Amino acid sequence: MPANLKEDLKNLPRHIAIIMDGNGRWAKERGLPRTEGHRRGADTVRAITEECGALGVEYLTLYAFSAENWKRPKREVDALMKLLEQFLRTRTPEMMEQNVRLQAIGRLHDLPQTCQQQLHRSIEQTSQNTGLTLILALSYGGREEIVDGVKSLLESIERGHLDKGMIDTEVFSKHLYTRYYPDPDLLIRTSGEMRLSNFLLWQLSYTEFYITQTLWPDFGKEELHQAIRAYSQRHRRFGTVA
Ligand code: FPP
Repeated sequence: MPANLKEDLKNLPRHIAIIMDGNGRWAKERGLPRTEGHRRGADTVRAITEECGALGVEYLTLYAFSAENWKRPKREVDALMKLLEQFLRTRTPEMMEQNVRLQAIGRLHDLPQTCQQQLHRSIEQTSQNTGLTLILALSYGGREEIVDGVKSLLESIERGHLDKGMIDTEVFSKHLYTRYYPDPDLLIRTSGEMRLSNFLLWQLSYTEFYITQTLWPDFGKEELHQAIRAYSQRHRRFGTVA
C-alpha cells in the first residue's frame, strides 16, 4: 500500500456509494455493443469490491440498476439481468473467501424470478460474513424509496406501533431500505455527469462527492485511492460552523 494512502486511511470513509456510469460510452468508443461495456463494468465491480474490502471500508453501495433503467431497450435490460445473475452465481464463492456480506436495496420483486432466487441465495450464503457489506441497488429509485418509506410509516401508525407525534428524521430513516446501514460518507460518480439520478436522495444529504471523467470500466484501484485521498482532505461540517 502506498505510504501516503496509509496516512489517508486514518480517515477512511466507512461507507462509499458509487454511481457506476459510462459503460455504454466505453463500448461506443471501441465500436463494441453496449452490453460489452456492462460486462467490463462487472469486472470493475469485482475489482473495486475486493479493494474496498482490503482497505477496510465497511459498506459499499453500488447503483447497479435504477428504477428508470427498465425503460432501456428490452435487449439491453435482458442482458443486464443475465449479467447480474451470472455475476452473483460465479462471484459468491469469492465473496465467501473475502468475507463479503451481500445485501440489496430497491424494488427487488421487479427483478426476473431466476435473478431474485439467485440474489436471495447469495444474500443468505454470505449473511454470516463479517467483512465488507456490499449493497447492490437494484430496480432502485430514491423517490420510490421515500414513497415506500411513507407507506411503511403509515402502516406502523395504523397498527398502533407508532404515534404521529413521534415522527422525526431518525424515525423516518428506520422505514427506508437502508435502515440497517449508516449514510454514505463518500459518493463517487464516474463519467463526469453532475447529477444524482435518483440515487439515495435522503441518505446523501451530508455526503462528500467525488466526480471523475473516467468511465466505469476504466475505474481502477488507483483512482479509488485518489477518491479516498480527496475525501480524507475534506473538512466535514454537517451544517455547523468550522
Ligand atoms: C451505466 O452505464 C451503468 C448501468 C446502467 C448499469 C451498471 C451495471 C454494471 C456496472 C454491470 C453489472 C453490475 C453488476 C453488479 C454485476 P450506461 O449504460 O448508462 O453508460 P452510458 O451513460 O455511457 O451510456
